[in-house]
Parts: sequence; structure tokens; C-alpha cells
Amino acid sequence: MAFTGKVALITGGGSGMGRTAARQLAKQGAQVVVFDVNASGLAETAEGYDNIHSQAVDLTNEEAVNAAVAKTESEVGPIDRLYNCAAIMPFGKILEQDAAVMHKIMAINFGGLVNITKAVIPGMVSRGRGDFISFASMAGVIPTLLTGAYSASKSAVLTFTETLYHENRDSGIRFACVCPPPVATPLLDQGKATAWPKMLDQSGDPISPEEVLAEIETRLEKGKFLVFPGKQTYFGSIMRRLFPGLIWKQVHQVEGF
Ligand SMILES: NC(=O)c1ccc[n+]([C@@H]2O[C@H](COP(=O)([O-])OP(=O)(O)OC[C@H]3O[C@@H](n4cnc5c(N)ncnc54)[C@H](O)[C@@H]3O)[C@@H](O)[C@H]2O)c1
Repeated sequence: MAFTGKVALITGGGSGMGRTAARQLAKQGAQVVVFDVNASGLAETAEGYDNIHSQAVDLTNEEAVNAAVAKTESEVGPIDRLYNCAAIMPFGKILEQDAAVMHKIMAINFGGLVNITKAVIPGMVSRGRGDFISFASMAGVIPTLLTGAYSASKSAVLTFTETLYHENRDSGIRFACVCPPPVATPLLDQGKATAWPKMLDQSGDPISPEEVLAEIETRLEKGKFLVFPGKQTYFGSIMRRLFPGLIWKQVHQVEGF
């Protein structure tokens, strides 16, 4: 897709993969709008780019999301591409993590996706085009110990986006859902500050945001919905489907409980 003159909206654009995507699309001539709760992160993303516009928006606030999308479409233009990047990732054993934290993970990672979907998809459907990209995770495909609430939120993202895709498969919209392994972004610090499963170090160093974004582009061009960046991720998803007991045995061995 050539991006000159296109409009891209990126949630969670104040950091990590959202920031990288914003700058890549801006360099390709798109008008990019970034939503985030982190005002300083938004300013950093937009620094040096006339065509990156930021709005401080909490994705969990349905009214605020509707207003921000309406503002985007009236001031910048109809949205051609949406990246759903906003998320948080505190880890912990289910019996040790506060219920409030687990509800917050679900409210942002899944509820935020619901809100932005309801605000953006009708316009894409009526125009008969657009790219809709969700960020699930390998954590949502292969659950492990210590990541219960985060993994559940990412499984929800995957199932929700897959259903949305099939309900709108003749709409002209391209859908993709990416399931990355660990990626080198500030999100990992949230996991490390709470509880860190040894399993997450098993696949080597975190991959780069650029690798994830390039794989999304390749799969979109091929008309494929699922995106598994990094080595062994697709293979891991098949193993999880065919041999869940084997995967759990390995998880218990690696974590030591
Ligand atoms: N980094 C990884 O290892 C990894 C792996 C697999 C999947 N993912 C997924 O990729 C996506 C992007 O992750 P990242 O690594 O770039 O994370 P990141 O922490 O660098 O960026 C996430 C952004 O979301 C924003 N955000 C949080 N709550 C928000 C809210 N209520 N409203 C608006 N914005 C909010 C944060 O302020 C932050 O700027 C996430 O959905 C994440 O779950 C990340």
C-alpha cells in the first residue's frame, strides 16, 4: 500500500511498536494520528514530524474514543489504516495479582480494542476499504505460568479480531492479527517489574519492532490474517494446538513449579 495522502490511526502510539509504526508511515507520506494516555510519549513520537498528530486519549473511555475518532476524521480525514497497539502488561500469579489489576489489563487490552473498533470500523465498512491491525501476542496463543491475566486479554484480542474479520470478510477491509514473541520495547519492563516467566527467555533475545511491522506488511499483502513474526512462533502455535500437555510439561519444568 502506498501511504502518501493516506490517514493512519495508531493507538498506543506514544511508545514501542506504535511509535515505530507512526514514524515509518509518516516517512512514507501518510498523515498519522497517535492516541495514547502518555502525553510526553506522544510528544516524543511526533517530534520532528509535521504529519504526526497526537491526541491524549484513554482507550477505556468510550465517549473520549468516539470524540477523538470524530475529531481525527473531520480534521485529518477518513481513516485508512488502524493499528491497535495500546496495552499494559503487569504479570503475576493469579492468586497473587490484585483483582483490580487484572480487571485493568482486560479493560485496556480488550475493552480499549472494543471501543476503538466500534468507533472506526463503521466508516471503513461504508467506504469499502481500510486496514485493521490488532496486536495479540504469543502469550495469548501459548499460555504460560505468571501471565494469566495478560494472556487472557491477548486471547480475547485474537478471538475478537478473528470474528470481526469473518463477519466483515466481504467488506473490502484487510484484517490482520499479529502474535509476536517478546519484542524489544518498554512494555517488557512492566513484566520484569512484576514477575518474569523464565519461558519468555527461552526463545532468545527479543525481536525488533521493525521485524514485527515488516511481517505484518508482508502478510497483509498476501491477504493473510494471522501474523507470526520471529523464529519458531508459527511452529509453537501448531505445537500448542496439537500437544498442549507437552507444552505445559515444558513450562512447569522451565519455571520449576
Ligand atoms: N513488546 C512485546 O514483547 C510484545 C509482545 C507481544 C505483543 N505485544 C503487544 O504489542 C502491542 C504494542 O506493545 P509495545 O511493546 O509497543 O508496548 P509499549 O508499552 O511500548 O506501548 C504501549 C502503549 O500503550 C499505551 N497505553 C496504555 N494504556 C492505554 C490506554 N488506556 N489508552 C491509551 N493508550 C494506552 C501506553 O502508554 C504505551 O505508550 C501491545 O498490544 C502488546 O500487548 C508486545
